[in-house]
Amino acid sequence: MAQFLLPKNSVVKKGQTFAAPAGAKKTRTFRIYRYDPDRGDNPRTDTYQVDTAKCGPMVLDALIKIKNESDSTLTFRRSCREGICGSCAMNIDGVNTLACTMPIADVAGTVKVYPLPHLPVVKDLVGDLGDFYAQYAAIKPWLQTRTPPPPDRERLQSREDRAKLDGLYECIMCACCSTACPSYWWNSDRYLGPAALLAARRWIADSRDEAGGERLDDLEDPFRLYRCHTIMNCTRTCPKGLNPAQAIAEIKKDIAARRS
Ligand code: SF4
Ligand code: SF4
Ligand code: FES
Repeated sequence: MAQFLLPKNSVVKKGQTFAAPAGAKKTRTFRIYRYDPDRGDNPRTDTYQVDTAKCGPMVLDALIKIKNESDSTLTFRRSCREGICGSCAMNIDGVNTLACTMPIADVAGTVKVYPLPHLPVVKDLVGDLGDFYAQYAAIKPWLQTRTPPPPDRERLQSREDRAKLDGLYECIMCACCSTACPSYWWNSDRYLGPAALLAARRWIADSRDEAGGERLDDLEDPFRLYRCHTIMNCTRTCPKGLNPAQAIAEIKKDIAARRS
């Protein structure tokens, strides 16, 4: 899998080491990025030895164990613990992924844990997703209609049209793809990035939506859409197995078809 750069503001020094408890049977070492911008110290990595014989199987289980038993100051996001909410996205062993679905056993040697790359760090493993969510809002991720709804039922969709949304609606907005995209790293103020563009495609592809033309007008821009150079990091890293690069290519095709 593709390896990615470390976060911005990273002059990372080695920090403290937290030893495994006496009698630990199956110790694994976790090296974790620590940074608190409010304190003004340089970023560092702390080392934690965890007895994985007394821990759940996923990297998130180890982080929770570290926080509960070794170092309550370690900060990270998590909620669902089953790959649905997207909040535990981070960079583990060089790959953007979900800590709750990443088995510790799949990482060889020291487990290196960093925040998602190229986001300002709020604290430790928590990146600032403000721009990311604003970009999502910018594609208007809701059904837009112009005609009145049928008086006696919902707006229906054929099974075939519903199937066109497969591979698009499952996105959990974890940001693994956008923060793996070099074009997004360098132009995140103007390029919408793969997650927002996959979401845009989801609404363009929806047979019930009546704003497709305006959606394409909004995207037809050298930065918002065309900064994608098909590097494919997004698709390689998506923990839900989605293909944002293809969704972006489909939007480009839709725009080209309008011109011909
Ligand atoms: S395919 Fe496009 S969106 Fe995906 S990583 Fe490459 S440049 Fe970024
Ligand atoms: S496309 Fe995949 S990697 Fe990107 S935000 Fe959605 S679920 Fe996460
Ligand atoms: S905690 Fe929800 S996706 Fe990991």
